Formats: sequence, structure tokens, C-alpha cells
Amino acid sequence: MTKFKIAVIPGDGIGKEVIPEGIQALEAAGSVLNIEYQFDTFDWGCERYTKTGRMMPDDGLEQIRHHNAIYLGAVGFPGVPDHISLWGLLIPIRRKFQQYVNIRPVQLFPGVPCPLAHRKPEDIDFVVIRENNEGEYSEIGGRINQGTEDEICVQESIFTRKGTDRILKFAFEIAKTRKKHLTSATKSNGIVHTMPFWDERVATLSQSYPDIKVDKYHIDILTAHFVLHPDWFDVVVGSNLFGDILSDLGPAIAGTIGIAPSSNINPERLFPSMFEPVHGSAPDIAGKGIANPIGAIWSAAMMLEHLGQSEASDLIMKAIRQALAEGDAKTADMGGKASTKECGAAIAGIIKAGTSK
Ligand code: NAI
Ligand code: MG
Repeated sequence: MTKFKIAVIPGDGIGKEVIPEGIQALEAAGSVLNIEYQFDTFDWGCERYTKTGRMMPDDGLEQIRHHNAIYLGAVGFPGVPDHISLWGLLIPIRRKFQQYVNIRPVQLFPGVPCPLAHRKPEDIDFVVIRENNEGEYSEIGGRINQGTEDEICVQESIFTRKGTDRILKFAFEIAKTRKKHLTSATKSNGIVHTMPFWDERVATLSQSYPDIKVDKYHIDILTAHFVLHPDWFDVVVGSNLFGDILSDLGPAIAGTIGIAPSSNINPERLFPSMFEPVHGSAPDIAGKGIANPIGAIWSAAMMLEHLGQSEASDLIMKAIRQALAEGDAKTADMGGKASTKECGAAIAGIIKAGTSK
């Protein structure tokens, strides 16, 4: 019996609704393949902030430092400014635990309505690799002369050679295992220091990967190509900001952001990695029981893969595919009528029945 200790942070809004469905899928796969878990749940999030003034306790990171993985729902809710909720919980975990790779797969599943005309599942299957620790999301900057006509606001981007090279290297390595095609997101025509540097590092590293076809697009036209030519992409690598934008657009062209998963990886395994759906807390539908749990369930499958449990991970992925193809398990964002719980139960049922194809 293999046993994993998982830190569970459901967080805010629909995070609390989708995470239990992911846990159900993990339990189901565990019961079939003899995997056991210890789930330690932490009530960190905006509700806690309104009561205590902190998103998580001072020693929060220490409390989850020795878990095998972190499983997170979503962070942020009206009433707490987004920069406080994000920088009080999600970003410290990503940075202190050196989770510098954010992997966000995009796939159109059979049975999910695609907003792009005439696109088939084989046309949309790529992965966005987002730099997750530096870049445009930085605390360096400030404001002076606040409230006056001479107000000045400065926000610095940080691109280190180490940070840039390690994310690019990771993306090249992933491309090696796929269709050997890497696309880099840039904007070196407008952002004249960091982006030419980024392009330079892509060109330098590509010399060590002669088998990988490399192309690059400015971020503006790249978003257009995502919509017009999604079949052009295999592995897309971007800085923190560009990767963030592309990884919401990607799932949208594949039907819904509700199915999009992600992993925040510390490749050296010095710290636990974190698995979470791409979507946020969706305050507009929170509490209604209609959120799509597949982003969370797919993230759970990515977690199992990272923990060396590929068979269990595959079992969950096959169950997701089968549930979507059969149709009844679809939530409203996929054109169906199922509730969060009905969708989660259908997937767990397929996993347990061992009937997944
Ligand atoms: P969002 O992803 O929460 O919602 C965007 C839209 O997609 C909404 O209309 C929502 O109903 C829909 N949606 C999202 N997930 C869905 C699901 N599973 N099923 C069905 N529909 C779904 O993004 P938004 O509105 O920009 O942010 C809301 C809050 O979440 C903010 O506080 C924001 O800071 C936070 N946020 C947190 C993230 C995280 O924890 N990783 C990521 C993005 C936003
Ligand atoms: Mg985002």
C-alpha cells in the first residue's frame, strides 16, 4: 500500500465545491490501485482573512512543507482586494516552494462543445508552460506623490538568466516528449529590454535542442493564432504574465475554463508541488453547486502523475473522457445540466467500476 500525505486548501468560492470532487476521484483511483492518502485540510482563504487579517497563519508554509503535495481550489473573493488574497496565500506558496514551472494542458475532449467552428479534438491539444516565480509579477516598484497630479507609479519586471533558462529548458524537455515543437511568446517590439533578452535565451538554448522546431510570436498575434490556428501549437512557453493570459485563453477555445488543470512544479523536488484548477473562485456561481469540477479532478490526476502513480492518473483521465463522451455528466458551462456533485459522482463511478475505456 502506497500512502501520500496531501495538504488540501479548498480556499474560496467554488474552490470549496470542486475540491471534494477531486478528492472523491483520488479516493476512487486509490481504492482500485491500493493507494492511500492522508488529507490534511487547511481553512486558509478570504474568510479567514476577514476574521484574522491573515490569509494563512504565520507558520503556514512550515505546516505544509513536508507534505507530498498541495491540492488547492481557488483563492480570492469580493470583499478582500485580489492583490491581498493572491499575495497572501497563492504566490508565497509558489515562490517560497520554488514552484517555478506552471504546466497548463489544453485539450478539446470529445463531447465538449467547442466555441471555434469546425474544430475537432485532434486540432486542440497543447500545453502552456508558464514561468511561475518572477517576470512581470513582482513586488518591486512603488508610488510617489500619491493623490497629486504629479503621481508616479513604477512596477518593475524581473527576468534573471537563471529563472529564464530553467523555464525554457523545462519547456524544451517537455517538447522532446511530445511533437517536438516549441512556440515562445514574446513582445520584443514593445518591451525592449526583458523580451529581447527572453528571445536571446530561447535562441541560445535551442542550440542544445536541434531536434525541436522553435518558433516565436508576439503575444498580441499569438492570441489571435490560438483562436484561428489552435492546431499550430504543441508546447507554448511564456513569461509569468503571458503564460497566465494564454492559459485562460487556451481552455476557453477548448470549451470552458472549468476543465483546465494546472500544476505548480518544483522540479528539483526540494519542496512539495501544488496542483490546482486554472480557474478562480467564480463568485458569480459560487454556492449554487453548478461549478465544473473537471479542472480540479484533472489537476488531481496531474498530482498522481507527479507522485509516480501514472496508472492511477490514467484511470482518472480515461474516466473524465468517458463521462464527457457519454454526456450526462456535463455541467452548464459545457452545455449540460449536471450539478458539480453529479459530474464528480459520475467520474468517480466510472473509475470505481473499472469500466473506463
Ligand atoms: P474565475 O475563473 O473565477 O471566473 C471567470 C468566469 O469563468 C466566471 O464567469 C466563472 O463563473 C466562470 N468559471 C470559472 N470556473 C468555472 C467552473 N469551474 N465551472 C463553471 N464556470 C466557471 O475568474 P475571475 O472572475 O477573474 O476571478 C474571481 C476571483 O478568483 C478573483 O478574486 C480572482 O483574483 C480569483 N482568481 C484566483 C485564481 C487562483 O486561485 N488560481 C485564478 C484566477 C482568479
Ligand atoms: Mg490566471
